[in-house]
Amino acid sequence: MLACFPISGESEGVVNETPHPLKIAILGSGRGSNGQSIIDAIEAGTLSAEIVCVISDVADAGILDRARAHHIPALFVSAAPFKTKLEGRAEAEYIRILRGYGAEVIVLAGFMRLVKKGLLDAFPNRILNIHPALLPAFPGMASWKQALAYGAKVTGCTVHLVDEGTDTGPIIVQKAVPILENDTPETLHARIQEQEHIAYPEALRWIATHRFRLEGRRVRLG
Ligand code: GRF
Repeated sequence: MLACFPISGESEGVVNETPHPLKIAILGSGRGSNGQSIIDAIEAGTLSAEIVCVISDVADAGILDRARAHHIPALFVSAAPFKTKLEGRAEAEYIRILRGYGAEVIVLAGFMRLVKKGLLDAFPNRILNIHPALLPAFPGMASWKQALAYGAKVTGCTVHLVDEGTDTGPIIVQKAVPILENDTPETLHARIQEQEHIAYPEALRWIATHRFRLEGRRVRLG
């Protein structure tokens, strides 16, 4: 039983009665480079975790191909009729599948839908997301374009717990990326993604090694 996350919203101690690799499920809609970084960390032995399944709301998402190439259960599960959120019958189906695979932590890796109360309540403080900016700056879509257009000198990426807001949950890990004079949206996004591929395995490592505690909205690592 994973208990390195608090069971309630408040901080609790770290208890792990049955140590085992952290059971992770990944949800993604796209290319899956972040999913790949987690697969690679596990295979390299630097992250004590098992990916129990990868689920996508997009039938031909690259993340499903990546999972299959590593013999990880890869499922397309439609989230229709909604276009931008996971709710209703589709949400119930996701929860059923995630529970069936025994997922302890849900990793959103380019999952292009808002996660709603049903999933949040099913996995309280157990859903992570990665955002391509230093939150709370530049929440929402295409954050690297927002940072560039704003004239920021530094941006980066943030791994955070998911709550009911948009990109508002407690911050676990951040990596800074300088914005260069000649950056385009593409070059900047590529450098942010390099840092994402370090940040996501790092955040999961804190959890998998039971060195993660939530105090209010502050995440304590170590
Ligand atoms: C990443 O840039 C992440 O920050 C955002 O969606 C993108 C997913 O990329 N949430 P990938 O599918 O992991 O390559």
